[in-house]
Amino acid sequence: MPSPKKIVVQDFMRDSTIWDSVKPRSTDIIIASCYKSGTTLTQQIVNLLVNGNDNFESIHHISPWVELRFQSSETETGLIDSLPSPRILKTHLEFEALPYYQEWKYIYLVRDGRDVGVSLYNHCQTYLNNAYNLSITFDNGSDDFLEFWDLWVETGKPRWPFWENINSWWQVRNLSNILLVHYENLINRKSEEIIRIAKFLNQEINSSKVEMICQFSSFEYMKENWHKFQPPGVFKPQSFINKGTNKRWRNLLTPVQLQRYEIIISQKLEAECANWIKNGIL
Ligand code: A3P
Repeated sequence: MPSPKKIVVQDFMRDSTIWDSVKPRSTDIIIASCYKSGTTLTQQIVNLLVNGNDNFESIHHISPWVELRFQSSETETGLIDSLPSPRILKTHLEFEALPYYQEWKYIYLVRDGRDVGVSLYNHCQTYLNNAYNLSITFDNGSDDFLEFWDLWVETGKPRWPFWENINSWWQVRNLSNILLVHYENLINRKSEEIIRIAKFLNQEINSSKVEMICQFSSFEYMKENWHKFQPPGVFKPQSFINKGTNKRWRNLLTPVQLQRYEIIISQKLEAECANWIKNGIL
């Protein structure tokens, strides 16, 4: 068993110590990713699995991002305590920065780094100036995609390191309460992945439930109902559920950048992990 919570992460957006105030319940479900890897889609899938509907104004009210520093509708005092069980808690932390309980179920999402970089660029371009009602403006990196990419792939800036986040979850992948899910599989073999997630969470599943979940977690449905899925007061309208496709980087990254990507991934990740990030299916 890994030792619980070995590191504290505090940056301009995340404060892992906020997790200290979460009173654990044996039924808690954690949905984790570095970022831009299908977190919101998975929150909706899990919500549909356990609640059977999406009768909420914002998914972020029923599935908050716990370590988010800013007081917002997601992190209002008492919100997490007041949620019915099972709670669906979102995180972008490394595994070692989270509390670990054998009863908790952790789902970790990954996506090809090239798709994440493209998605993150769009994400950073669409922040409102007064996001989270703050008077400060976040560093959202360069407006020039190629410049944005070069900094991000080496450092994770203007957000946090990508490779280290993946590595931390990869190391614990064999624990029975951790499920790794690849975005590529989630969109291309969705029914199978829904069944896999349902079994992992010990949730009842049948073909009509799979059909219902596919419908209400489809890209088209979530795009049309974007206000339910986009964090309120943070992004320009209709920008968070963006394109929902992979490989857009093929028309954007230069041959030199693609070569550099191959070098970085081989240095940062074990071969099996690198292969999984690129191709999905474990
Ligand atoms: P793109 O920016 O490539 O379109 P996260 O929730 O971790 O921030 O991930 C965001 C990515 O998931 C975005 O990718 C977003 O469009 C995509 N996404 C959200 N809902 C989706 C859905 N129902 N089907 C497919 N992709 C979805």
